[in-house]
Amino acid sequence: MEHEAHTSYTDINTLPEIPKDFANQAYQFQELMMMYNCAIREVRTKLEVLNDELSIRHKRNPIKHITSRIKRPLSIIQKLQRYDAPFTVEAVEEMLNDVAGIRVICSFIDDIYAIADMLLQQDDITLIRQKDYIQAPKPNGYRSLHLIVQIPVFFSEQKRNMRVEVQIRTIAMDLWASVDHQLKYKQDVENPEAVSAELKECAEIIAQTDARMLAIKNQIYCNEKLHKSWQDKFEKLEIPLR
Ligand code: GTP
Ligand code: MG
Repeated sequence: MEHEAHTSYTDINTLPEIPKDFANQAYQFQELMMMYNCAIREVRTKLEVLNDELSIRHKRNPIKHITSRIKRPLSIIQKLQRYDAPFTVEAVEEMLNDVAGIRVICSFIDDIYAIADMLLQQDDITLIRQKDYIQAPKPNGYRSLHLIVQIPVFFSEQKRNMRVEVQIRTIAMDLWASVDHQLKYKQDVENPEAVSAELKECAEIIAQTDARMLAIKNQIYCNEKLHKSWQDKFEKLEIPLR
C-alpha cells in the first residue's frame, strides 16, 4: 500500500497528454542537468590532475581549492527570460554558457594564468570565450579570469559537447567577490554608494597586495615558473610593487 503512488503510472506513455508533456520536459531537463554535472566532473578532474602533477614537480599547490555548481532552475528561467529565449532544454543548451560553473581559487596571480594555459592547451578543450577581468577589471573593481570552455562528454550512445564556465581568481580576489556579491543582494545597506566606493578601494589594495605576494613568492621559489606564458601578461598589469 505504501508504494501505491509510485506504481500508478510506471510508463510515461500511459499518462494523459498534458502530464505526459510535463513529464517529458522534466525528464529532458533532468537529463541535461546530469550532462552538465558530468562536464563539471571532467573539467574538475583535469584541474585536479594539473594540481597533483605540479605539487610533485614544484612542491607547492597552485590551486588552493575548487568549487562547482549547477545553475538553479529559477536562475536558468530568469536568464532565458532576459535573453527572450523559449523555455526549452534546447534553448538552455544553446543560449546559456554558465549552467555548469567551476571556480578555481589560486594562491598567486601567475598561478591563474598558468592553470588557464595548461587547461586550454589540452586538445579536447575548446575555448569558446575568455574575459580577463584581471587585465581589465570591471568598473566596480571585480577581478577574475573567466573562461567558457567546451568539453566532449561520452555517454552510452552519444558524445555531447558541453560548455562550462571556469572562473579563476586568487584567494584575495575571491574574498572581495564574495563581499561584493553579498552587497549586491542586500537591500537594507545604509549607505550603498559609500560602501561600494570603499569596496572599490579595497579591490585596488588587494591587487597591489596580490602583486607583492607574487614578488615574495618568486623570491622564495627563486623565480621558478610553473608555466612560461604568464610573464608578459603580468608585466602588462603595471601594478606598482611598492
Ligand atoms: P552573467 O549574465 O552575469 O553570467 O554575465 P556574462 O555572461 O557577461 O558573464 P561575466 O563573465 O561578465 O560574469 C559571469 C559571472 O562572473 C557572474 O555570474 C558572477 O559569478 C561573476 N561576476 C561577474 N561580475 C561580477 C562582479 O562584479 N562581482 C561579483 N561578485 N561577481 C561577478
Ligand atoms: Mg552567470
